Amino acid sequence: MPLPPGPRQPSVAQLLQFTLRPLPFLDQCLARHGDPFTMRVAGLGTYVVVTAPELIKQVFTADPEALPAGEANAILEPVVGRNSVLLLDGKPHLRQRRLLLPPLHGERMQAYTQLMAEITDAALDEMPLGAPFSLHPHMQAITLKVILRAVFGLDESAERSGLERKLAEFLRPPPTITTFIPIKYLDFPLSPYRTFLARRDAVDVELRAIIRARREAADPARSDILSLLLAARDEEGQPMSDDELRDELMTMLLAGHETTATALSWAFACVLENPAAAARLDAELDGARSEGGRLDTALLPRLEFLDCVLKESLRLRPILPDVVRRVRAPITVGGYAIPLGVDLMPCIHLAHRRAESWPEPDRFLPQRFQGAKIDPYTWLPFGGGIRRCLGMAFALHEMKIVLGGMLARARFRLASPRPVRVVRRTITLAPSGGTRVVLISRRPRALRAVAGAS
Ligand code: HEM
Repeated sequence: MPLPPGPRQPSVAQLLQFTLRPLPFLDQCLARHGDPFTMRVAGLGTYVVVTAPELIKQVFTADPEALPAGEANAILEPVVGRNSVLLLDGKPHLRQRRLLLPPLHGERMQAYTQLMAEITDAALDEMPLGAPFSLHPHMQAITLKVILRAVFGLDESAERSGLERKLAEFLRPPPTITTFIPIKYLDFPLSPYRTFLARRDAVDVELRAIIRARREAADPARSDILSLLLAARDEEGQPMSDDELRDELMTMLLAGHETTATALSWAFACVLENPAAAARLDAELDGARSEGGRLDTALLPRLEFLDCVLKESLRLRPILPDVVRRVRAPITVGGYAIPLGVDLMPCIHLAHRRAESWPEPDRFLPQRFQGAKIDPYTWLPFGGGIRRCLGMAFALHEMKIVLGGMLARARFRLASPRPVRVVRRTITLAPSGGTRVVLISRRPRALRAVAGAS
C-alpha cells in the first residue's frame, strides 16, 4: 500500500527546503497534497506529516511502545548524549521523567517567582536606552540564569566557573545549512562540527566538575533536580553514573533555556507588532499596581490577558515546528497503512494555522484564548501525550514574570517597521535579528514590589 502523497522532488531538494525555508515548504506540501502527506528528507528519513486534530490525537495517544519518540529524536544525541530523557523510550524513559518532574510541577512555580523577577530586573537594567539592540541574547541570559539557579540549585559560582559563558558559546548556532547534514560529512578539521565538539567538551568539563562537587557535599535537604538525580537509585539500588547525570543536565539546560528565550523573543515581537494587544496588556499590568505605582510581581501569573498573549504567541510562532514518533508496530493513519521505520510527524506549525481550529489563523488575536478550553490536539507548542514537554508549567510561569515584569517597568518599540520574520536557528524557529528593539523608557526598580512584598 502506498504512503500518503507528497512532493516528488529528490530527497536532497526536500532536505534543503525543510532546512532553509521550513514553513513555506510545509505550507506548500499541505496545500498540494492534503493531510496526511509524506516528506522524504535525505539523511533523515521518511516523514508522514499529520495536521488534523483527530490524526494528532491518534499519534499522541498511541501505545508508546508502538510509536516511540526516543529513536526519532536521535538527531539530538551529539548535544544531549544518549542517556538523555529525550532519547530514551519505555521504562527507562518513564523512570527518568518521574525523577525530573517534581521540581517542574505546577505547584512548585510560586517558589521561583521572586528569583525570576530579580533576574528579570537585573537584565532590564543592563539594556541600553535609546539605541537598537537584539533582545534574544538578553532573554538567553535570563533563562540560563533561571535554570541554573532555580532548577539546578547553583549559585553565582556557576557564573564564576565560566559555565554560563561556555554554554553561550556552545549554543551559538552553526551555519543553518549544516543543521540536518549527517555528521559523517561534517567531521573534518576546522569544520563547524569540530568547533561544536570542542565547545561541547568545554561545557562537559564544567558540568562534570559541578557533579563531582555536589556528590562530595551531598545535602539531603536540597530539592533541586541535580540533588534528586544524585540521590536516585535504580531497581538494583545503583545511583546514576556521571555520564547519565551529565546527559540529563545538558538536556535540562538546553531544552529548558534556549526554547524559553526564543519564545520570549517571539512574545515581545508579537506584542510590539500589535498595538491593540499591547495597549490591553498595558492596562492589565497597570491594574496590578498598588496606589504608589508598585507592581506586585506575585500577581503576574494570575493576569488573564498576559496568559492569553503568551499562548497566542506560542500558537502563531511555535518554537519547534514539529515533533516525531517512529513507527514500530503496524498503524493506519488517515486511511494509509504506515510501514515500520517511517516517522510520524505531528506538525505543530500546520496544526496551529488550521482555519477550522483557529479562525483568521495568521492574525495575532490573544483574546481567542479568553475563557477558552484548550484542546491539546489543536494547541501543541509543547508536544503531547506521554512525551509532552516536562518544562511547560515552568516555561509559561517564567514567561509571565519576564514579559509582564519588563513591560510593566519599561517601554519598548521595534527597531524597524519591517515585520519580524521566522528564521531557522538549528532545530528551532527564531525571530529574525533576535527581535531588534529600542528601549524607550525605563522606570526605576523600586517601582516593582517583589513577589508579594508590601
Ligand atoms: C517555551 C519553552 C518551551 C517549549 C516551546 C518546549 C517545547 C518542547 C517540545 C515540543 C517537546 C517535545 C514534546 C513531544 O515530543 O511531544 C519538549 C520536550 C521536553 N522539554 Fe520542553 N519546551 C520548552 C521549555 C522547557 C523547559 C523550561 C524545560 C525544563 C526546565 C523543558 C524540558 C523538556 C524535556 C525534559 C523534554 C523531554 C520530554 C520527554 O521526552 O519525555 N522544556 N519541549
